[in-house]
Amino acid sequence: QSRQARRICALAPIIPVIVVKDAAHAVPLARALVAGGLPALEVTLRTPVALEAIRAMADVEGGTVGAGTLLTAADVKAAKAAGARFGVSPGLTETLVKACEDEGLPLLPGAVTASEVMRAMEWGYDCLKFFPAGTSGGAAAIKALGAPMPQVGFCPTGGVSLANATDYLSLKNVLCAGGSWVAPQAKMEAGDWMGIEDLAREAAALPR
Ligand code: 3PG
Repeated sequence: QSRQARRICALAPIIPVIVVKDAAHAVPLARALVAGGLPALEVTLRTPVALEAIRAMADVEGGTVGAGTLLTAADVKAAKAAGARFGVSPGLTETLVKACEDEGLPLLPGAVTASEVMRAMEWGYDCLKFFPAGTSGGAAAIKALGAPMPQVGFCPTGGVSLANATDYLSLKNVLCAGGSWVAPQAKMEAGDWMGIEDLAREAAALPR
């Protein structure tokens, strides 16, 4: 399971966490992020148009579109049917793991404690989302988990910004990070796709 997830995480230092409120934003947003150097795109299933956005973004050249906020087996089915090539979940349940395996959807499940990470490893997952990163101990917590479990790679998300991304990306056990700052609602509403491309380029240049 994790081999494909690791491939997704290797694409760029930052995976944009996207909330699409207007389906018309999907394609220009995806094009801007990909043009700026961020090909892996996480569209959160938090708005009524999220699945429609995934369907539209799936055709954007150079992009790899995934679905975030997977909470249920139905979410997994719908995401896969819409064309998502990977899934992201804030947590990890047996139901979710089974659904992703049934659908053949690579999953980045969430885990922040040693026990959660150990359970993920038991199920064959060693590429995990660390969420919510900022309030779960941040980079210091990920570094500490790496001592007993160096084989696990993390994608911290939640409270990651341009200012603190390097704290995470400089760790050996951080593969990439996720953040919403590269796709701000105000820029989408203003149709400022060049501005979003600039934000993407800045994030894509972060060292890791
Ligand atoms: C989320 O799932 O909302 C992400 O973790 C985004 O967090 P951010 O808005 O702090 O980047």
